Amino acid sequence: GKEAFIFDLDGVLVDTATFHYRAWRRLANELGFDFSMQQNELLKGVSRMQSLEQVLTWGRMQQAGLDKEHLAEKKNAWYLELVERMGPDDVLPGVLAFLRAAKATGIRTALGSASKNARLILDRTGLQGYFDAVIDGNAVVLSKPHPEVFLRAAEALGAAPDACLVFEDAQAGIDAAKAAGMSAVGIGSGTALQRADLVVAGLADLKID
Ligand code: G6P
Ligand code: MG
Repeated sequence: GKEAFIFDLDGVLVDTATFHYRAWRRLANELGFDFSMQQNELLKGVSRMQSLEQVLTWGRMQQAGLDKEHLAEKKNAWYLELVERMGPDDVLPGVLAFLRAAKATGIRTALGSASKNARLILDRTGLQGYFDAVIDGNAVVLSKPHPEVFLRAAEALGAAPDACLVFEDAQAGIDAAKAAGMSAVGIGSGTALQRADLVVAGLADLKID
């Protein structure tokens, strides 16, 4: 059995993956181009600055001498406008029951997210008390698919990697879990989540055992 569960945040516990998509698209549109929902899959799980690099590449704007820090801040401000409206009702279906059941079974839990806004989102949605450790974008240097965030989470929980189960909606996140030597549950559509040990539509579809 697994001793520890590590949860991604955006797209697994809350629906902020769509907010990221809307904010990146708004930036792209302002720069004069667009990208598809399919392309957006490649932004999931990836840090803010790396996502910006990807978006600019799609728009062929890498050489345009743009102020990248400024663009990233702009996207984040738009993203935060959407986050500000969040509350406890925005926790995805089945999440609270799943987290409570994990606790009741004695499983340790950690958040493993690339987001620098993770703590703000946990506070706004009332999820902050459910995790024994929070490893977020402020604590890690290397973006998923690098395993750093999950290895740090396992370490914080005092669990060996092979005793950890990761819940992820991003291909980069599944790859990071595998690189860490962990098992992974893919959340969402199966085609985008190759290599997951199991794929479900959401945590509502899953039971602890
Ligand atoms: C998560 C999301 C990504 C996002 C990244 C950084 O991994 O899946 O879409 O780019 O966090 O988020 P931040 O809130 O720091 O911009
Ligand atoms: Mg995610």
